[in-house]
Amino acid sequence: MRDQTPVIQDKADFVRKLFNSIAYRYDAMNLVMTGGLFSYWQRVFLHYTGFQPGQRVLDVCTGTAGLALLLARQVQPGGQVVGIDFSEDMLTVGRAKVERSPYRDAVELVPGDAMDLPFADDTFDGATIGFALRNVADISRTLSEMRRVVKAGGRVLSLELSHPRHPLVGVPYGLYFGKVVPWLGRLNEKGFSWGGGLRPYTYLPLSLQNFPRQDKLAELFRLAGLERVGYRELTGGIVSIHYASKPSNEVKT
Ligand SMILES: C[S@@+](CC[C@H](N)C(=O)[O-])C[C@H]1O[C@@H](n2cnc3c(N)ncnc32)[C@H](O)[C@@H]1O
Repeated sequence: MRDQTPVIQDKADFVRKLFNSIAYRYDAMNLVMTGGLFSYWQRVFLHYTGFQPGQRVLDVCTGTAGLALLLARQVQPGGQVVGIDFSEDMLTVGRAKVERSPYRDAVELVPGDAMDLPFADDTFDGATIGFALRNVADISRTLSEMRRVVKAGGRVLSLELSHPRHPLVGVPYGLYFGKVVPWLGRLNEKGFSWGGGLRPYTYLPLSLQNFPRQDKLAELFRLAGLERVGYRELTGGIVSIHYASKPSNEVKT
């Protein structure tokens, strides 16, 4: 599904510049803006991956490698995580974190495009994408690429902001995300100038408006050739975990 974000002509280019510009504040802003929920969501996500020691996992749109490092711990001993992202600055911050971590030998960060993964078919035991399906220019293509590089039976999972169903959650969340987050973001922006005047933390709520609802996203997983698709909503649907598997008996065409 092509994103229809009207104000963004070239979404990939815009998104790469955006994350380059906020890379050095990204982790701190996540902590502040989610009140620490970010790491709780990641911990629950790890329960759904089912990854085992010794496995090789791909973390797509790995950013500053927070999720990649948690996955690296999960696949020890003997496992490996490859994180891929197209923002050089996010990867620079990520590499510094990896260097300081006890899992530094288990994580490799590489530059590249989620929609054109530079890996052979059937390379990884599983693939994850954290808080990034909203940001890719083509969700279906990204999911197809994740399916392609995963071995038969391997898991493909996304952790992403979502659409709360209940107004008691949805209304305050909409206000927080639409008003408070851009304001908090502006406090932290300096020297920033974007085409159309769209600023990073103003883009954030827009990116969710255009993002498919939970059941529609599950359908995109199925259309990408994945099976056993399901999802779990967290914190009243503010976030959802989508999970699926690559069919074990996939016939190559
Ligand atoms: C919100 S950050 C998420 C980072 C990390 N996964 C996390 O959970 O903190 C989104 C990331 O997606 C990356 N990204 C977006 N589109 C991409 C693409 N087509 N290929 C590679 N990386 C992409 C951005 O550079 C950014 O680092």
